[in-house]
Amino acid sequence: MNTKLLPVSPESIAEAGEIIRAGGLVGFPTETVYGLGANALDGDAVRRIFEAKGRPGDNPLITHVASEEEIAPLITGGVSPAARALMDAFWPGPMTLIFPKSDAIPPEVSAGLSTVGIRMPSHPAARALIRAAQRPIAAPSANRSGRPSPTTARHVLDDMDGRIPLILDGGPCEVGVESTVIDVTGDVPRVLRPGGVTPEMIAKACGAVEVDGAVMRPLKEGEQPRSPGMKYRHYAPEGDLTIFEGENGAVAAAIRARYDAAPDGSAAILALPGHEALYGARRVFPLGAADTAESVAAALFALLRRLDDERVKHIFSEAVDSSGVGLAVMNRLSRAAAFHIEKV
Ligand code: TXA
Ligand code: MG
Repeated sequence: MNTKLLPVSPESIAEAGEIIRAGGLVGFPTETVYGLGANALDGDAVRRIFEAKGRPGDNPLITHVASEEEIAPLITGGVSPAARALMDAFWPGPMTLIFPKSDAIPPEVSAGLSTVGIRMPSHPAARALIRAAQRPIAAPSANRSGRPSPTTARHVLDDMDGRIPLILDGGPCEVGVESTVIDVTGDVPRVLRPGGVTPEMIAKACGAVEVDGAVMRPLKEGEQPRSPGMKYRHYAPEGDLTIFEGENGAVAAAIRARYDAAPDGSAAILALPGHEALYGARRVFPLGAADTAESVAAALFALLRRLDDERVKHIFSEAVDSSGVGLAVMNRLSRAAAFHIEKV
């Protein structure tokens, strides 16, 4: 299959909408990461997503809508006051809510669970695509399973060339990490995956929040995750990644020592902007353009891809403060490191 890469325009959106209606797949930009979309109401179309990504069949997909009216037919049991408050505060935007599903959601989308994740993205191209398709769109991140999520159309092409007919290019994604996944089926909203909407923001909007324990640690032996995605080692660079946590000077000293002990040319350091000088002439990649969690988030996945492209074998990274969006950054970075975190 020949994969077309087209800039977002009324014509390319219309073509993409046609493909979705006909049961095909489209790569498209959202404010978080690029998605790989299919008609969410068509189990056969959704199965093609799993094939194109090489995704395990037990990991459910998020269903994307452009307006609130589209939600009622997809869920059962209505919208709780807490869910209502979150929808009012953060939609459209980088937030996915887990509701009990209706029969309209095929088992391929929910991977056999009784729930469905719903997201209303804010990216104009994503919204235009959902409208053009005239259907809700099921979409995971548009990477091959196990690769970092794509934050540019080029990343999607690198992973999906020959596997899908069309990628819409809307430029780099603003948030850079995937949406915050929040289970709203219980009394207190529970964060299953941190993202651009932070626990602090959630607590402010609806009074209470819980962060699932598996967000910042590996699953225990035999533990059933509330979100199947937690089982998988996502975002894995080819090199081994170690994170160093502690006071700046101590972290830099530990990283310098480990870097110097690695074979020549095999190692690289990930450091917050402004910290480069701590590492002298060693090979440093900045974590983002500015020393803010938002900036680190926006740059993180492109950086992980670059480390693979440059075949870096040993990666030593500074930790990021895990308040605000920093929690999402540390969640992704810790998983990429398979939880190799050294406290110094
Ligand atoms: O920002 C995003 O969320 C992007 C864009 C394209 O919208 N999508 C995305 O999808 O990141 P994906 O499939 O890569 O990640 C979805 C995560 C997975 O960890 C999955 O296990 C979890 O959400 N999830 C989906 N449906 C769920 C459900 N019903 N219950 C629990 N977790 C669910
Ligand atoms: Mg993904």
